[in-house]
Amino acid sequence: MHQISLLGAGLIGTFYTMALHGHRGRDRVHTVYSRSPQRAKALAEKWGVPSHTASLDEAIADEHTDTVIVALPNHLHEQAVLAAAKAGKAILCTKPLGRTAAEAQRMLEAVEQAGVFHGYLEDLCYTPKTLAALASVRQGAVGKVLWVRSREAHPGPHSDWFWKPELSGGGAIVDLGCHCIEIARNFIGKGIRPAEVMCWADTQVHPIDAEDHAIGLVRYENGAIGQFEVSWAFRGGMDLRDEVAGTEGTIWLNHWLRTGMEMYTTGQAGYVAEKAETNAGWVFPVGDEPGALGYAEMFTDMFNAIDEGRPPQEDFYDGYVVNAIIDAAYASAKSKCWEPVKLTNWRGGEGVQTDAAARDYDAEHLLIKQERMLDGTLKLILRHKQSGQIIERIQPA
Ligand SMILES: NC(=O)c1ccc[n+]([C@@H]2O[C@H](COP(=O)([O-])OP(=O)(O)OC[C@H]3O[C@@H](n4cnc5c(N)ncnc54)[C@H](O)[C@@H]3O)[C@@H](O)[C@H]2O)c1
Repeated sequence: MHQISLLGAGLIGTFYTMALHGHRGRDRVHTVYSRSPQRAKALAEKWGVPSHTASLDEAIADEHTDTVIVALPNHLHEQAVLAAAKAGKAILCTKPLGRTAAEAQRMLEAVEQAGVFHGYLEDLCYTPKTLAALASVRQGAVGKVLWVRSREAHPGPHSDWFWKPELSGGGAIVDLGCHCIEIARNFIGKGIRPAEVMCWADTQVHPIDAEDHAIGLVRYENGAIGQFEVSWAFRGGMDLRDEVAGTEGTIWLNHWLRTGMEMYTTGQAGYVAEKAETNAGWVFPVGDEPGALGYAEMFTDMFNAIDEGRPPQEDFYDGYVVNAIIDAAYASAKSKCWEPVKLTNWRGGEGVQTDAAARDYDAEHLLIKQERMLDGTLKLILRHKQSGQIIERIQPA
């Protein structure tokens, strides 16, 4: 059983508390910090949190707690993590870990030097669908993963600080791309080095200094591609979808809109779901929001990992790699060229070769493709191993 100091009483602090206190969990928020004493008090009263404070230091130092959850705006992560590491507590930090890889690296060094547990709260790698899909991929269900497409798009964030790049670190890439990048990394393999990034980003809609749209390609050393698509101006709610394409199979995941619950209302629905744009007409509520977004499985892994003395599925090193990929994406959006992912601290494999998925057909030929045709015949496309010539062979129906 763990007692938690929660730093931040905004949207994500509330979701985290819902996930921890919503069922009969053992791990409890003991104290909540917010700049505003009223907001801290309101969260504490609603969720049965015994103590609240408007002092960050007081919340971290609370003698009843062993774990600090950082749920503050991006520019405050480093300060909070460094203070919590100094206090010797386990630290769980929301995404993105830093605004830049340099910031993330300093946080990683601080927790490792202090020898404290560190977890990166990347919930979308823990949704029940994602965990099931990852298990299937690891069993070989899709063969070698070639291409992962991950999309997060919504009409834009709910607080002023997100829109100020000096506080948030950027726009939709750092806010939403961080999820997509880590989802792709999980499917492609965390030991495979992300090599370079090509990214388009633009401010198409909002009067801001950051990007509200971006598409990026992350090329991994084994040839796999992670594609992220993000928008802060998508209309119709929150579009959260992933696709995994491999040599032997395909997985499509839809996490939010049209997940199985659909309701028509003339307008009495109240709150529908995170980032829902309307509460009238056909709407798409979610049965269990913290569960569907991965918060429940994420905290189960985090606290089990602390108890078992092992790293969690997502830790600060992962947050650092994600930040390094984001830095390369911003560099590429500016230069309009492929930009290298600068990882001064790489802990995965080196020199992974691109392995083509060639299959022998017979002693002389490789099989490129086979297809059953309209007339029932089987058409084979073959490549001669020595000459390289490509031929067709037709097998009768
Ligand atoms: N799916 C996810 O994992 C997810 C979703 C949303 C947000 N987040 C992350 O959570 C963090 C917080 O986002 P949020 O959506 O809860 O934001 P929010 O604006 O809803 O809440 C932020 C909290 O920090 C407080 N705060 C703001 N400025 C502050 C300052 N200068 N000093 C002290 N406190 C300050 C606010 O009062 C509020 O309690 C961000 O890092 C964001 O990227 C993660």
